[in-house]
Amino acid sequence: MKKLVVLGAQWGDEGKGKVVDLLSPEFDMVVRYQGGSNAGHTVIYNQKRLVLHLLPTGVLHKDVKAVISQGVVIDLQLLLEEIKKLEEIGINLTDRLFLSDRAHIVLSYHKALEKILENKDKIGTTLRGIGPTYMFKFARRGIRLCDIKDENRLYSLIEENVNFVKELCREELSDCELSAQEVYEKTLELYQTVKDWVVDVSKVLISSQSVLFEGAQGSLLDIDSGTYPFVTSSNSSALGLTSGTGLPPKYFCDAKFWGVFKAYLTRVGAGPFPTELNSQEGELLRKIGDEFGSTTGRPRRCGWIDLVALKHVIETNGIDALVMTKLDVLDTFERLKVCVAYRLDGKIIEHFPPDIMTLQRVEPVFEELPGWQTSTRGTRSINDMPDKALEFISFIEEQVNTPIVMLSTGPSREEYILL
Ligand code: IMP
Repeated sequence: MKKLVVLGAQWGDEGKGKVVDLLSPEFDMVVRYQGGSNAGHTVIYNQKRLVLHLLPTGVLHKDVKAVISQGVVIDLQLLLEEIKKLEEIGINLTDRLFLSDRAHIVLSYHKALEKILENKDKIGTTLRGIGPTYMFKFARRGIRLCDIKDENRLYSLIEENVNFVKELCREELSDCELSAQEVYEKTLELYQTVKDWVVDVSKVLISSQSVLFEGAQGSLLDIDSGTYPFVTSSNSSALGLTSGTGLPPKYFCDAKFWGVFKAYLTRVGAGPFPTELNSQEGELLRKIGDEFGSTTGRPRRCGWIDLVALKHVIETNGIDALVMTKLDVLDTFERLKVCVAYRLDGKIIEHFPPDIMTLQRVEPVFEELPGWQTSTRGTRSINDMPDKALEFISFIEEQVNTPIVMLSTGPSREEYILL
């Protein structure tokens, strides 16, 4: 029995898609267990850039089963579009997609509500309706795939929710924007096309020999251990594994946990970011690293790597090993900075503060390392890595006391080194 959990060890966009794609053929199943279409997992498939928002990246391998478990919130319209997009390039999912009957669905009123909420408090969400769908789930007003079968009940749930949203947002929503009848009809229509894939997913998982769990977003966006309230609405760390899959905690005792991180740091949306570079260096990272959101296209905020944050992620997730991506983005830099601690009110601190007011005030304490100023892009052997790049890698490993087991050296499947 093999179990591997691959998590984002920063604020998302670490390159998990490529790593999961690479590892997937070793597993029977790949599982998305939290988040929804706010994720954007990018892979290069047949020389073309492909972004998956809902389906696990493992679907690209025809012998791998793809599972969307109960912690994911599913936008059926987007799911079908994604399935069609794959069919067009010859990837068929007929007998190998499993959707949890307990998964909640994202509906148009969630998106309408999110627009209004974002106008009031700017988190910089992806506007995919993710937050409100989880809000409704925890307010016990959600609609799950298993609830669609009973059409009368479905209609009354939708009607209640639409009225609830209208009542809540009376000033911002005109009557014509939301119609219970329309939401109901659309949901039934979409359900017809996916219903054969809807099953009790935890049973499917328990019976599988080897499973890869694909985290979405990053651990610093986790609703509980991230930079609250500038976070996503799910447990995007290992904390979400049991509730997100329906599997007991015991199941994960013999799992391995890998954290994927970039050689620098990015964040999309608002929230504290102690090592952010509002300078030409930041611009350069954005340009070389092509740091634009794969879901929203927004420019990502860029900065130096933050090991205080990375250590927090390693500890809270029990990370066994790390995968470093996008080292080549640093190829042209003469000097590199690594944040090893924070300074707060003149004192050095090494922990990651839980509250954003403190995190906004800390100043990063940097160690400077020399750059290698030669191309590492596409390097496939550690022997071909420049010494200064190896020093940079070892420095991080020692500081966070966790091995880096893989380097991704470019976007394609072949561009990696196993250490
Ligand atoms: P939401 O997940 O759409 O509610 O957005 C909440 C915050 O998480 C915003 O700052 C988003 O930019 C961020 N976020 C959500 N999904 C991702 C992702 O896949 N990568 C990076 N940031 C994300």
